[in-house]
Amino acid sequence: MMDYTDRHYRYLMRLLCPRTVLYTEMVTAMALVHGEVDRLLSFDESEHPLVLQLGGSDPELLGKAAKLAAEYAYDEINLNVGCPSPRVQEGRFGACLMAEPNLVAECIVAMQEASGLPVTVKTRLGIGRADVTAQLYPLIEKLAAVKVDHFIIHARNAWLEGLSPKENRTVPPLNYEAVLTLQEDFPHLAFSLNGGIQTLENIVHLAPQFSGLMIGRAAYHHPYMIAEAERLLYHHNSPLPDRAEVVSLYYQYALEQLAQGTRLYALLKPLLGLFLGEPKGRLWRRLLSGVAAAKNDPHIMLQALEQVKAC
Ligand SMILES: Cc1cc2nc3c(=O)[nH]c(=O)nc-3n(C[C@H](O)[C@H](O)[C@H](O)COP(=O)(O)O)c2cc1C
Repeated sequence: MMDYTDRHYRYLMRLLCPRTVLYTEMVTAMALVHGEVDRLLSFDESEHPLVLQLGGSDPELLGKAAKLAAEYAYDEINLNVGCPSPRVQEGRFGACLMAEPNLVAECIVAMQEASGLPVTVKTRLGIGRADVTAQLYPLIEKLAAVKVDHFIIHARNAWLEGLSPKENRTVPPLNYEAVLTLQEDFPHLAFSLNGGIQTLENIVHLAPQFSGLMIGRAAYHHPYMIAEAERLLYHHNSPLPDRAEVVSLYYQYALEQLAQGTRLYALLKPLLGLFLGEPKGRLWRRLLSGVAAAKNDPHIMLQALEQVKAC
């Protein structure tokens, strides 16, 4: 998620959950090919398995971007065919590409050939009021023919006119049934469900029904819930991570990052939700958002932890 799932957030997540696959923010192929590659692509070893999400619709540019992804040792590339933002539409990529399966297939092949990495696609159920059979099915058939075998489906349509990107994540109705039907209609392909998964109960209920789940906003706002989910789904016998230990480890990481010029705010932001749902969750958030943050003082993390533990 842009402005959220940056490398600092992902570092924190890896301290909480060793197995969950992590995704970057969308990076446009254009930005990558003409921009500061190292700033856009570098990450910590611990973040594996890590997927780079690319945005774009020019096969040549996407091929170059994919080659860089392989050089930086990403595990996989995902193409964004689901973003409804007007700026992305102007660039002729994101959700509007659902209407151009041939072009998407060309992009995929260029990325596969340039990188040798698996390329997956994140998309919606359709554009506007389109039924899944109008756009999504032809898109999947076309992409399966070029060896895409994993799709992440944000289980609602994208209404490209009249809604803001934010409204496009809440207003078009969710339709999980459509994704279940997709799985039946294309049993040789994997479909991960995305959209509106908010609670541990949701996760435990949905996980057995789909090839995978992708969790966006809830994973950001409630990172510890993903640790709990991992434990329930994969490692029943291991203890949950201790939040205080996680903060100490993250603090060490923050010191290294600050020495390299990272702003403290960027390092504190992923931590804000760590105690969500706990009696001291609000205090923690308030302390981290406090005045000391403005003074660029990293000890704020440890001081906040002491106060929270004392409650
Ligand atoms: C702030 C924000 C930024 C997002 N950025 C991206 C992005 O870069 N790429 C993408 O595929 N989806 C992006 N999304 C959409 C989410 O990945 C996800 O599809 C959507 O929020 C629905 O899932 P959720 O209900 O689990 O959040 C973004 C969502 C938010 C709220």
